[in-house]
Amino acid sequence: ASLKPWHTLGFEVKAQGIIDVFSEEDIHQVLSFARQHDLPVLPLGEGSNTIFAKDFAGIVMRVCLQGRRMEYGADGQLMVYGAAGENWHGFVRWALDQGAYGLENLSLIPGTVGASPIQNIGAYGVEVKDLIDWVRYIDIASGKVVQLKASDCVFGYRDSIFKQQLRDQIVITEVAFCLSSHFKPNLSYMGLHDSQAETALQLSDYIVKVREAKLPDPQNLGNVGSFFKNPIISEDHYQALKENFPNLVAYSVGEGDWKLAAGWLIDQCGFKGIRKGNVGVYKQQALVLVHFGEGYVEDLLSLAWDIQQQVWLRFSVRMEIEPRIYPQ
Ligand code: FAD
Ligand code: EPU
Repeated sequence: ASLKPWHTLGFEVKAQGIIDVFSEEDIHQVLSFARQHDLPVLPLGEGSNTIFAKDFAGIVMRVCLQGRRMEYGADGQLMVYGAAGENWHGFVRWALDQGAYGLENLSLIPGTVGASPIQNIGAYGVEVKDLIDWVRYIDIASGKVVQLKASDCVFGYRDSIFKQQLRDQIVITEVAFCLSSHFKPNLSYMGLHDSQAETALQLSDYIVKVREAKLPDPQNLGNVGSFFKNPIISEDHYQALKENFPNLVAYSVGEGDWKLAAGWLIDQCGFKGIRKGNVGVYKQQALVLVHFGEGYVEDLLSLAWDIQQQVWLRFSVRMEIEPRIYPQ
């Protein structure tokens, strides 16, 4: 079966089987079938952070569980629950409509609620780890159901236990968020002060506009958002670079470490807007690699490799690929 409609890069790749699941019961059934036939299972949300480097020799399980609800917690807190297959942006806007605040800076991030804890999605000064209460999942090997507290998820920058120890071993079915009934705007990210947003909905709308201006809509142009993580370097390395490159874009992240804008590094190496065959680097944001259609995933990965090499030669900075690549 073709995976082309189910991942936002839109390459022509196949899976041995693709099955949509709508409940935990469906998931248990698919897992026991896969165990009987010794087939690997890969859960997939909207495929907006996934690269299929080859055909997938197993079952791709599209997680389509729907449902969202809210209840009052202590001290003006609102507990908001989303089933894994809910569209993320739809969920954020629904929460805002309910008067539950905190997710507005994460508006318009593509993908599902279930994928949000996996790489601890973040944007405009907010990371989802700060709002998650627990994550419910099913263990693929045993079928056991676990509810993991946020404090046990080992969240980091674009990272969590689900990308490390539990990588490819679980299916997330539901995520609980602890939101607030009071709107406290977070305008810490550069440029957000200009938003003049007074309500959470206005802030969400503003973020939607900023994102639409900078990032390609996967409906029109294949991409997975940022292709690399923003690299983190030491104070010494930062000072040395700053001397040679006074315009270096970097943010202090504590303990002497600095986070570099990978988009700036790639831009400086002259890649912004280039096209090689049917893949390229987005003209508005050098951190986003794009597929113009009818292209090959090998070309995209070889462009990524060229970029990594040039950035290394010029800045001695190693850039880690951010989306998941299958097979690894
Ligand atoms: P998928 O691509 O379907 O899956 C990603 C990984 O999670 C895979 O390994 C998959 O196996 C696993 N997975 C998915 N669902 C489940 C589940 N229910 N259970 C177990 N494993 C699962 N990310 C940010 O953090 N910040 C941004 O600002 C941002 N901007 C983006 C902009 C664009 C235009 C695009 C295309 C992507 C952007 N991303 C951003 C990346 C992406 O939106 C997020 O990583 C998102 O959480 C992926 O959701 P998904 O459902 O599409 O995941
Ligand atoms: N820049 C350039 N040239 C470029 C792109 C960026 O010089 O072509 C410089 C500019 O100085 C700009 C700075 O880099 O001010 C930062 O750019 P931007 O605000 O677009 O953010 P980013 O660091 O490139 C990160 C996340 C995004 C997230 C935005 C907003 C990562 C890997 N990426 O991008 O997340 O939306 O911040 O918070 O951390 C994603 O993960 O897929 C993603 C899109």
